[in-house]
Amino acid sequence: MQGTDKILAARALLRWYVDAGVNEAVAAFPVDHFEVRTLAAPAPPARAAAAPVSVILPASTPSADEAAMLAAGAAAACSTYEELAAAVTAFTGCPLKAGARNTCFADGVPGSALLVIGEAPGRDEDAAGKPFVGRAGQLLDKMLAAIGRSRAADTLISNVVYWRPPGNRAPTQAEIAICRPFVERLIELTAPKAIMLAGGVPTQALTGATGIMRARGSWREISLSSGARFQALPLFHPAFLLRQPAQKRLAWADLQTLAARLRDA
Ligand code: URA
Repeated sequence: MQGTDKILAARALLRWYVDAGVNEAVAAFPVDHFEVRTLAAPAPPARAAAAPVSVILPASTPSADEAAMLAAGAAAACSTYEELAAAVTAFTGCPLKAGARNTCFADGVPGSALLVIGEAPGRDEDAAGKPFVGRAGQLLDKMLAAIGRSRAADTLISNVVYWRPPGNRAPTQAEIAICRPFVERLIELTAPKAIMLAGGVPTQALTGATGIMRARGSWREISLSSGARFQALPLFHPAFLLRQPAQKRLAWADLQTLAARLRDA
């Protein structure tokens, strides 16, 4: 193999690992990441007499609770949408960021009457640095157009986490909890008249309602830690509608419910 071929092959292999969800090299000894930052690893049995080995984790790696507190402080310090976008982009406390190419904060018109909140960026969003730009995003655009709205004119679109989970898995509770202060601040700063929750993950994360089949189509309250309350309507996620087009009938009915609220507001 030529030198450049080897580099290209190594790059392709690394990309494959990242896409498969690998986000760190395996150390010589197991590390319990829930434990303290610096811990002595057990000495290997065959070399018991050798010098003890220490696994030093970066002192700056916060626990999920610490990261959520850091996010809360950073979000509270923002008084405009632009400041919040910059704070999210600068935030390093969410472990998803290490495996992502870009931060996908939001797309559309801040301060719109309608805010759409989805689950997490996927591969296309990660590459573009914007939420909902892949196939599901294109269907979302069509759904919005069906009620006379668009991200270019009068809708803001975001997610409950801002970095692509490896292998497109669902975001964990901890990842959602870390990003939540930013999500709450986005809602506060943009004060939408209605929030569309795209799918079960944002519905459960923000309203507590479980099971999108039951939750869809009924107005729910999002109660922020500031005490503010916002009205939200869960709908099927566009990616689900791509797999189950027969469910578009129900999504259409839910879009009419959303449009009616926006007309009356
Ligand atoms: N699905 C989501 O929930 N969000 C995106 O940004 C893209 C796909």
